[in-house]
Amino acid sequence: MRFDIVTIFPLALDSYIKTSIIKRAQEKGIVSIGTTDIRAFSEDKHRKTDEPPYGGGPGMVMTPGPIFSAVESVTGVHVSHSIPKPRKRSAHVVLLTPRGKRFTQKRAEELAHDFEHIVFICGRYEGIDERVHENLVDEEISIGDYVLSGGELAAMVVIEAVTRLIPGVLGKQESLAEETFTGGGKEYPHYTRPEDFRGWKVPKILLSGNHEKVAEWRKKKRTKKI
Ligand code: 6GU
Repeated sequence: MRFDIVTIFPLALDSYIKTSIIKRAQEKGIVSIGTTDIRAFSEDKHRKTDEPPYGGGPGMVMTPGPIFSAVESVTGVHVSHSIPKPRKRSAHVVLLTPRGKRFTQKRAEELAHDFEHIVFICGRYEGIDERVHENLVDEEISIGDYVLSGGELAAMVVIEAVTRLIPGVLGKQESLAEETFTGGGKEYPHYTRPEDFRGWKVPKILLSGNHEKVAEWRKKKRTKKI
């Protein structure tokens, strides 16, 4: 799976990409991730990527040119009014925006299964020229009912959720745990050493060695994870 993140803040994403499960997936050769700086595609001498809105009003709007060029540089496919985007193409283009459809575990599973190459456009909250929404993007995703200033953290959330579902990314132990949790799965409370931590003790039943009683206790204590 290839992920490309198109953003005006590539540095903000670097450290997370270089750590965590995403790093491991890259080292295993299962996933590769690239960041593309929208600013590098600005034709303005100050590398400007936004302009005041036509029709007036507050704030600035991201201009379409650099975003189109940045996405085209990673997909290799040029789109314009006379050359509309092909119906079927290998890269799936996602715009992260609070007006998108709410991201779920189910959507993460579908993305992991359906695509080999996903391009994430991180917009600024104030707005992106409507022609990006209409002519460049295949899907708009939001990660919840709150407002972030940009889509960068949302892109990392989606990438992490999708990456851990790609076969071979998780170790055996983690995959087994995953199976118990997905599809409305439930989780029980976990304890490890020490037996007594600052006066808070591990439930006696877990130390009893009675597997049946332990299973019964865990069943009773299960709470919804997803
Ligand atoms: Cl994807 N972007 C922004 N800017 N805010 C959000 C979001 C995305 N999802 C929830 N809030």
